[in-house]
Amino acid sequence: MSDEYLVKIENEKLSFFTPAGEVKALNDVNITLRPGEVLGIVGESGSGKSVTAYSLMGLTADPGKLIGGKIRFNGHAIETMSEKEIRKIRGNEVSIIFQDPMTSLNPVYTIGNQITEVITLHTGKSKQEARERAKELLELVGINEPEKRLKQYPHELSGGMRQRIMIAIALACEPKLLIADEPTTALDVTIQAQILELMMDLKEKLGMAIIMITHDLGVVASMCDHIAVMYAGRIVEYGTTDQVFYEPSHMYTKGLIRSIPRLDVDEHQRLIPIEGTPVDMLNPPAGCPFAPRCEKAMKICLRQPAPITEFDDTHYTYCWLHQKAAMEKQAARPEVADSRIAMSQGGEK
Ligand SMILES: Nc1ncnc2c1ncn2[C@@H]1O[C@H](COP(=O)(O)OP(=O)(O)O)[C@@H](O)[C@H]1O
Ligand code: SF4
Ligand SMILES: [Mg+2]
Repeated sequence: MSDEYLVKIENEKLSFFTPAGEVKALNDVNITLRPGEVLGIVGESGSGKSVTAYSLMGLTADPGKLIGGKIRFNGHAIETMSEKEIRKIRGNEVSIIFQDPMTSLNPVYTIGNQITEVITLHTGKSKQEARERAKELLELVGINEPEKRLKQYPHELSGGMRQRIMIAIALACEPKLLIADEPTTALDVTIQAQILELMMDLKEKLGMAIIMITHDLGVVASMCDHIAVMYAGRIVEYGTTDQVFYEPSHMYTKGLIRSIPRLDVDEHQRLIPIEGTPVDMLNPPAGCPFAPRCEKAMKICLRQPAPITEFDDTHYTYCWLHQKAAMEKQAARPEVADSRIAMSQGGEK
């Protein structure tokens, strides 16, 4: 693996073998992340965001099975490691925060007990040292009166404060990568903005990389270097944040952008939801998974998955419209065929 990458997932294929049949949850997923970068993984519920992130931590819920690809994290070949080896990485080199801190915090223990337990487990500090470190971490995540908070129970704190505590716990071992799985979905908009701001502030201070998972493209706009748009277990578009927002190329990405609530237009035009229902993962369409909902779907979209179209080193999509456009361009001006558009008939990245 190239050392410049903290994360390099190549052609990951992961399926759940359920009694009703095989659910192909991940199909040739590719992700790269350099130290200190922020990647947003965006897509609607069931698209494979969490499964991708957990597999990076060596976690696959039963009846899931990794059936292909390579998962590299911080020099480790995750897919070849034993559970015991991976456990050393989790919580040390990579931490995760979830949507609902109430399900991650234990209601019967004080905040202090829960933070110091994580610190002593991972750092070998004494109880007293761990308590001091816990206070520092609470201050780091913007919680005042840390001494008092350490004595409180989760239910005594607000949702926003509980999420700050989860972030403090996740940071206890100074991970190289923080995975945030819909960390603000359960919070109201003002608190949501504060938590995202806190995460960016901590990234600057601590230099860790972040994978931010969300179903809301609006959430990641201001914080990510790159964005992977997922649909039905595939990355359908990948690019820098600017590329995805200003030059969206997949019809699903375009739909996501139209569905971001806008404050600068008339109330009735603010939000255009994507019509249609998500893919039945047990019986996915033969061609482009988005075809049943796509207003531009062509015959070929229903028959065959689109091959990759690479616009440049950082931006690619899987959509037949761009293959068609590239072919037309080449046919019209064969001598100046645009070398930036690489056509792959294999359909795999
Ligand atoms: N434990 C499981 N058993 C069976 N199927 C699962 C399981 N976990 C996830 N899946 C399947 O994998 C797909 C991706 O799930 P997930 O990554 O959790 O989606 P999301 O994008 O909402 O995070 C889902 O559509 C679901 O069908
Ligand atoms: S490949 Fe076809 S169906 Fe899929 S997004 Fe592109 S135009 Fe729409
Ligand atoms: Mg999820």
